[in-house]
Amino acid sequence: MAEAAQNTADPAAAFTPRVFSGIQPSGGLTLGNYLGAIKRFVEMQGGAYETIYCMVDLHAITVWQDPATLARNTRELCAGFIASGIDPEQSILFNQSQVPEHAQLAWIFNTIARMGWLNRMTQFKDKAGKNRENASVGLFAYPALMAADILVYHATHVPVGEDQKQHLELTRDIAAKFNHDYGVDFFPITEPVIEGAATRVMSLRDGSKKMSKSDPSDMSRINMTDDADAIAQKIRKARTDPEALPSEIAGLEGRAEARNLVNIYAALSDQDVEQALREVGGKQFSEFKPLLAELAVAKLAPISGEMARLMEDTAEIDRILKRGAERARSIAAPILKDTYEIVGLVGAGS
Ligand code: TYM
Repeated sequence: MAEAAQNTADPAAAFTPRVFSGIQPSGGLTLGNYLGAIKRFVEMQGGAYETIYCMVDLHAITVWQDPATLARNTRELCAGFIASGIDPEQSILFNQSQVPEHAQLAWIFNTIARMGWLNRMTQFKDKAGKNRENASVGLFAYPALMAADILVYHATHVPVGEDQKQHLELTRDIAAKFNHDYGVDFFPITEPVIEGAATRVMSLRDGSKKMSKSDPSDMSRINMTDDADAIAQKIRKARTDPEALPSEIAGLEGRAEARNLVNIYAALSDQDVEQALREVGGKQFSEFKPLLAELAVAKLAPISGEMARLMEDTAEIDRILKRGAERARSIAAPILKDTYEIVGLVGAGS
């Protein structure tokens, strides 16, 4: 009884605790990807969950990608995962296109998701811009593929940055509608995991904009491949205000740029924002920025060095991805097969 009540309260509780998350190989990794996603992926590895991490190349091509650059970015992203601490033995690490079950389940979900739901997606509106008529159909259907990425593993938890929250709500809606329409309790209602001091790292040039690999200004972001000089220069030139840092969170109100740099400092030093402010409150930016730059270089330089080393042996990276894809398929294939049977697709059972 108690267990049934618990399952009602947390619909994901009946499923094996399993983490899935993905990153697009649509450009180099940024500090936003690292703090909002990869660092959290590493923390969830080896604990209570089985962890599955994916380079979502099929998502990347919803906007034009030069083929050679896409292949390079996919391998570099794999190197970034490993250099940051993802162990390809402990976690399953692979690129999406090597596991066709993602695209197959996405088609089923295209029939579940409603036009109205997808029309509300802010990422589509942002990426399509004013010229919606010219956006690819894939860009519109993107969230159904994302739901398939997660649900083809019956993943229960998905660590992401704040900007992916709406997509994860849609994933829950798709799972619930599928379960309802077919009268089953087959897909879990996934829990988003949006935690830590840096769930939304902002541009270094404009505290109201997200730090992004697609921002035209390279000074707006820290790339995981930046060298120590570039990191220090970008932090030195980051936009701020004339006030000293406050000692309490309330003092960051209305100070987006200051808040962003403090969040980054807190996340890089594994503290929460209160703790970080106890340490740096009262300092002028002229004093705080060199501290932040030193910390960022200390944390990021070993990662970029290791990425460069791993990129010298791309055949090894390809082997890791292939092996990861095989392991991923062994979980995804039976779940897709059951889905086909539920839907009534003849031949799925054989
Ligand atoms: P993508 O490739 O844009 O970003 C990858 C991860 O990095 C996080 N992130 C940030 N976090 C904090 N501050 C920032 N400035 C910042 N920029 C990016 C993102 O929130 C994300 O967690 N649709 C996804 C990829 C995806 C996916 C999935 C994620 C496809 N299928 C299934 C989870 C589960 C995306 O475009 O992420």
